[in-house]
Amino acid sequence: MKIETRKIEQAKEFAEKLMEKMTLTEKVGQLSQFGNSIYGGVESFFEDHYPEGKVGSYLSIHGAQKLNGVQKRLMEETPNHIPALFAYDVIHGFKTTFPTPLTQSFSWDPWYVAKESAKVAAKEAYAAGIRWTFAPMVDISRDPRWGRIMEGYGEDTYLTSEFSAATVEGFQGDEIGAEDTLLACAKHFVTYGACIGGRDYNSVDMSLQTLLDVYVPPFKAAFDAGCFTCMPAFNDFNGVPCTCNKYLLQDVLRKELGFKGVTISDAGAIAELVPHNVCANIKEAVELAFNAGIDIIMAFDPYNDNIPALVEEGKIDIKDVDAAVERVLVLKFLAGIFEKPFVDEKKQECFFSPEHRRVSREVAKRCPVLLKNDNGILPIDENKKILLVGPIGDDPKAILGGWAGPCEPAQTITVLAGLENRFGKENVTFSMGCSIEGSEEDNENIKKAADAVSEADIVVFAVGEHSGMAGEANSRSDISLPGMQEKLIEAVAEASKQKGVPCVAMIFSGRPLTIFSWRDKVDAILFAGQLGTEGGNAIADIISGDYNPSGRLSCSIPCSEGQIPCYYNSLNTGRPALGKWVFESKYRDLQIEPAYAFGYGLSYTTFEYTDLKLSKDKMSQDPDDYISVSVDVKNTGDRAGEEVVQLYIRDMIGSRARPMKELKGFDKIMLAPGEKKTVEFTLKNSDLAFTDWNMNKVTEPGNFTVMISKNAAESVLFASFKVE
Ligand code: NOJ
Repeated sequence: MKIETRKIEQAKEFAEKLMEKMTLTEKVGQLSQFGNSIYGGVESFFEDHYPEGKVGSYLSIHGAQKLNGVQKRLMEETPNHIPALFAYDVIHGFKTTFPTPLTQSFSWDPWYVAKESAKVAAKEAYAAGIRWTFAPMVDISRDPRWGRIMEGYGEDTYLTSEFSAATVEGFQGDEIGAEDTLLACAKHFVTYGACIGGRDYNSVDMSLQTLLDVYVPPFKAAFDAGCFTCMPAFNDFNGVPCTCNKYLLQDVLRKELGFKGVTISDAGAIAELVPHNVCANIKEAVELAFNAGIDIIMAFDPYNDNIPALVEEGKIDIKDVDAAVERVLVLKFLAGIFEKPFVDEKKQECFFSPEHRRVSREVAKRCPVLLKNDNGILPIDENKKILLVGPIGDDPKAILGGWAGPCEPAQTITVLAGLENRFGKENVTFSMGCSIEGSEEDNENIKKAADAVSEADIVVFAVGEHSGMAGEANSRSDISLPGMQEKLIEAVAEASKQKGVPCVAMIFSGRPLTIFSWRDKVDAILFAGQLGTEGGNAIADIISGDYNPSGRLSCSIPCSEGQIPCYYNSLNTGRPALGKWVFESKYRDLQIEPAYAFGYGLSYTTFEYTDLKLSKDKMSQDPDDYISVSVDVKNTGDRAGEEVVQLYIRDMIGSRARPMKELKGFDKIMLAPGEKKTVEFTLKNSDLAFTDWNMNKVTEPGNFTVMISKNAAESVLFASFKVE
């Protein structure tokens, strides 16, 4: 949804008039965001600041009554009665919690899953007085050690771009600033997910071509969808922190992408320019960041304290201050807060409404990825005695995910509760087996779990990470199951084998985990991610067969940490690993392929692909030229199910080596048993473009292969065309 130019013009006119009355102190106040205690804020600090108009927006407080109170004081007691924008990190739900963004991306269904969950999240947050969220995070990540991989949409640019646009549309609705919607913020501009070693906040060093072709497009998708705010990343990019990087903030963001909205620093990021060693003190940091293009400072006073003096000294141009303030006032106007500064407190009755829970369950069941299902062990029949084993089994927090806002764990349907709801209490026994990260009682409890197998028809493991193990500042060097959980699986699977009882493992985590060493010990594996409030019911929907699993991986699952970074769209190299001789690009102790590839996921049914057709075999250099691609897909099993049809291309020869495969289209379709549908894609000339050595975006003439694939490692139909 584009913001109408007329509306922006109207907002600008309004802002200009207001600015005529504002002092420099008030103007800089509009560029300063106050924060709650996490950001070092205290109420008394706010008391000191607001009467002078030094607070433009407010981060991380919520609750209609509270915010209405704060707003009232701002509007009555500040010089120009300017209301504040209340911001909150509404990442995957507000009260009703949805799957984490990474888990949502497993659905490959952005226009339902991401859009609908953002819509509900916006409605609940709006009811609590919030108008601005710092989401979506559209950082590509090829490194599951990085804890924040949970907050993005995986490793692929095309898939992330679709989720980016859908999420913005979900938050912002059909009209920016409308009731029950939030302003979105695309973050973290840009390359945060490529931190060296997967260590949060660490440096990033990459080619400008990779920056522009892989990391920037999801931001463009957000802006094209109407996102009007953007948060630069904490990290340095090729040595210059993103927070003061003129190339990124001016050349790429403003000029190349045409971004007209507001930039906001990440929390504390301007002060961190000092330890980044690009300036000596906070005043210099403000000068660098503001002049590079940061409109609002998140978390406090460096702007209030330094911009007036920097203007006086001629180091910051007052025209630039005015331009930034105008953008912020335009944002506030678009958010509708001059017109409607307060929120109706009754709206909060929508928290956890049956309808919101319904959407949460619908969304959650579309996400888990079935990685393995030997002998069709899943779904589980009605009257089977289930032994649920593992520390996530009855944990109401772990399945919510790492950025669940002011969720209420007590409202969570745990895995145990979900199974009991579906299979009956009498059919489900629970044995925790061990703790998540390890404790002294683990050995004893593992033994108890193994002993309990004798009473069961099937064992279901619920293992993984607790919700605090992924997310910000939670990088891990070892991404296997934490604590004694692998031992738990081994011991219980061994006891099950002896008794002829099959085992299913469900993994709940914020990142891909290495499961290579134990995956052969169980019959089925469901990678569930982190599913939110209705997680337990969604799991029961899947393992009972009420819903046929349809998730596909949005990030490769490596065999071991040694393979990281591990992503499908890599280059062939001059010595690809073909197993022909010794001097090849390989490991001597491990395959180079991941344990499970990008795009991988099974269903309870099977699909067949036939009849790949291209509308023509030549494309011109006209940027509007395109080829239509169609393929027939048939459900060859005896259950209804969804298939994710994936279209990849390969540019066979380029002036720069091109990836072996690049996703350029996908469609998720539902097919009844025996049903056949034709799926159509459009491949545009611009879809084939990349940044060449001279930094030009080009579609080069030559041969291209089209691959219709089940996942990045399994293409089933091929065709080719030529660009002339
Ligand atoms: C730091 C995080 O990096 C950012 O994503 C978030 O929006 C801010 N803190 C505000 O909480």
